[in-house]
Order: sequence, then C-alpha cells, then structure tokens
Amino acid sequence: MDLGLNDKVVLITGGSKGIGFACARAFALEGAKVAIVSRDPANLARAYEQLKQEGLHVHRTRADLHEPHSAADIVEEVTTAVGPIDVLINSAGAARRYDPETLDADAFRATMEAKYFPYIYPQQEVLRRMADRVKAGDGAAPGTIVNIIGMGGKIASDIHIAGGAANAALMLATVGLAHYYARYGIRINAINPGSTLTERVEEAVKLEASQQGIESADALARGQAKVPLGRYAKPEEIADVALFLASRRASYVTGAIVPMDGGSTPLI
Ligand SMILES: NC(=O)c1ccc[n+]([C@@H]2O[C@H](COP(=O)([O-])OP(=O)(O)OC[C@H]3O[C@@H](n4cnc5c(N)ncnc54)[C@H](OP(=O)(O)O)[C@@H]3O)[C@@H](O)[C@H]2O)c1
Repeated sequence: MDLGLNDKVVLITGGSKGIGFACARAFALEGAKVAIVSRDPANLARAYEQLKQEGLHVHRTRADLHEPHSAADIVEEVTTAVGPIDVLINSAGAARRYDPETLDADAFRATMEAKYFPYIYPQQEVLRRMADRVKAGDGAAPGTIVNIIGMGGKIASDIHIAGGAANAALMLATVGLAHYYARYGIRINAINPGSTLTERVEEAVKLEASQQGIESADALARGQAKVPLGRYAKPEEIADVALFLASRRASYVTGAIVPMDGGSTPLI
C-alpha cells in the first residue's frame, strides 16, 4: 500500500525514544525526510546512530519543548535544514503520577508543563505555518498532525488525575483545532495508547516488581494479563497507526481519537 509519504518532511517531537523513535523509524522507512527533537543530546545521538546502522537518516535537533519559544526555533531550524513541515507527530512528554492526597495546584501546573504545553507549542507553530502555505497556494498538499496522547485522559485513575487532565485537554484541543483547520484541508488526529512497552514503561515495571518483591517478568505478566488482548502494545504498533493517520490513505479522517489499549477500556 503506497502511503504517499515519500519525501514528506516529518517533525517528530520525542523522536529519540519510545513511541516517537518507533515513529521516526517507520516514517524514514516510508522515504520521508524525518527530523527528531528531544532534550538530551545523548538520547538524540543514540537514536541517530541506531537508525544510521539500519541505513536510515534523520535530522536531529535539541530542544526542551516546555520552554515557550523553543517550538518556534526548532520549526524554523527544521524548515531551513529539511523543508517546510508536512507532518507533525507530537510524542514528547510524560506526566508524573501523584498520590491524590499530595496533589496540589503546583502538581497540576507542573504536569501541564510536562505534557500539555510540549504538545501545544509545536502544534500551534506548525499549524500557523501549514495554514499560511495553503493561503499562499504553494501547491503542496495540506499538512497533518498526529498527537500521541493517552487513555488516561478518558478514564480517571487515582494516581493519574493531573496527567489525565492534561490528556483530556489535549484531546479537546485536537478535535477543536481539527474542526477549525479542516477549512484549509489540514487534518489533526490523535492516538490514545494504553500501556506500551517503551523503556519508560519497562523501568516502571521494574520498580513495581522491586516494590512487590517479585521478578520483573512476573510483574509484567500480571500487568499484561489485565489487558483483553493479553499484552501491552509495542511502540511499532502505535507508529503504524500514526503512519496511516498521517498518510493520504486517511485523507478524510480528521478529529479522530484512536484508542490503542488492547480493548481495556470499553468506552464509546
Ligand atoms: N508508553 C506508554 O505506555 C504510554 C501510554 C500512554 C501515553 N503515552 C504517551 O506517549 C508519549 C510518548 O511516550 P513514550 O513512552 O514513548 O515516552 P518516552 O519513551 O519517555 O519518550 C519520550 C520522548 O520525549 C522526549 N521528551 C520528553 N520531554 C521533552 C521535552 N520537554 N522536550 C523535548 N523532548 C522531550 C524524550 O527525550 P529526552 O529525554 O531526550 O527529552 C523522549 O524522546 C508521552 O506523551 C506519553 O505520555 C505513553
């Protein structure tokens, strides 16, 4: 199936690790010109080298996306170095878990800065430029955005109330902006992963195992047994759906929030 992504310029925030890294590989394999962004140069170098060994090239840029002006800088840099952005994949961030009894206003604010704004800043910068291109009639197909959000924004959990609230706000922004920017042909969609086997989740499983005095493999098996499909997602599975949503094969899909939690949340 030709996804029509060859030569598209794809900016992937959080592209050095986890789901973002899986997206970087998937888009590069489709022939896209991929740029990855994250904070730690060591993570960026590791991702760059790993993809290079697979015969894939990505442009890498360091930025901390919780800083308001970082998005404008990286978008400008990528536009100059690689080209105007056709696809934005937002996957940079993570929300800490809090005991609900220690959850104060500062924790909510910190969570919005760790998860909500690192998605909003690049999205707003890229959207403005995507709309300008359409208005200027440069002949390019309108751009598209995929936000990797999280099922915690659909179902409240006692230890993930602040992170869930950030995710819920991101979902609202996704569908609201999709509704508005459809007039320019720009599509905006989201994926809500459930537990996905990235390094961060593997570390969390190890911690849980040591707290319970059991082996990591047993803690993982217990967690996976709760998922109707019988296992956590692989980052590559999330990347495959991001590829589809960003492709011309999804040309009439916008404002969609795709759950990918192995059937854990039976919610319409
Ligand atoms: N994995 C799951 O089970 C799961 C489930 C639901 C939702 N999600 C969501 O999916 C997204 C990706 O998750 P993941 O598991 O792939 O995470 P991950 O493995 O921890 O990767 C996060 C990526 O984002 C970068 N990053 C984090 N904060 C950043 C910032 N302020 N500025 C720039 N880059 C930043 C990290 O690199 P640096 O450290 O170098 O900055 C890394 O490349 C997150 O938003 C997460 O909440 C994940």
